[in-house]
Amino acid sequence: MQLLDGKLASQAIKDDLKIKVEDLKKQGNKIPHLAAILVGNNGASETYVASKVKSCEEIGFKSTLLHLADSVSEAELLEVIHKLNYDNDVDGILVQLPLPKHISEEKIINLINPAKDVDGFHPVNVGKMVQGLETFISATPYGILLLLQHYKIETKGKHAVIIGRSNIVGRPISILLSRNDDTGNCTVTLCHSHTKNVKEICLQADIIITALGVPGFLKAEMVKQDAVVIDVGITRVADASKKSGYTLKGDVDFENVAAKCSYITPVPGGVGPMTIAALLMNTYKACLNHDL
Ligand code: GUN
Repeated sequence: MQLLDGKLASQAIKDDLKIKVEDLKKQGNKIPHLAAILVGNNGASETYVASKVKSCEEIGFKSTLLHLADSVSEAELLEVIHKLNYDNDVDGILVQLPLPKHISEEKIINLINPAKDVDGFHPVNVGKMVQGLETFISATPYGILLLLQHYKIETKGKHAVIIGRSNIVGRPISILLSRNDDTGNCTVTLCHSHTKNVKEICLQADIIITALGVPGFLKAEMVKQDAVVIDVGITRVADASKKSGYTLKGDVDFENVAAKCSYITPVPGGVGPMTIAALLMNTYKACLNHDL
């Protein structure tokens, strides 16, 4: 069994981007600028956005964090995005989800200029992704593809089983793995809450991707010998022995599943760091495309 080390793979991507930013600076070109919007005080979202901003700093990107109160109105948030769309210094805009209930995520995402939508959530970018056109692929699925690439894991002809059909992870990764390209050509089964025989389906999988948010869901008896297992789940579970009061748990019963796998991601330190690397790649690309 080999660990798919997201910290290592993401560091390689960040090191490469850092050199690219230094080159941009040397040539007197614009450096990438990410604007991240965080609404309210969701602890997990605060942590994610803080690490996105910190990673920007590490590699020499400019970043702006706009932390808005939970009480911000939808109209006010739309106005903030409108301004960022027209701010010529900003290359990428990210609105951390979930948003408070009184704000429509759909309206917010639809207002972001697709050319600055480094999260790849805008319907124009999702449509391009489905058609296999050049676009921003959202951070988690893109991070998974980068991890597969880093470890040179063959996807062609493999049966990939995805558990979870969210717009952010399950559905896009199911499409990406089925595309006719280097990180695609899988036969894909997308499992969801109404799927019968999830265990039997998983047992046929060469690659399993879990994106459920149910700690320990994937058990060893659901996994074929030598399967590749990618765990997107990251749930905070109460743990009094930890200073933070919680521990992070993936969707995979790691101890027992790992013994059967050819490759497996740890949680934390697997997909998580890759999502940040993917976001940085998208922001760099947005900067290069800026004046196109
Ligand atoms: N919430 C959970 N994952 C993501 C993500 O990739 N981007 C944003 N903006 N919010 C998220």
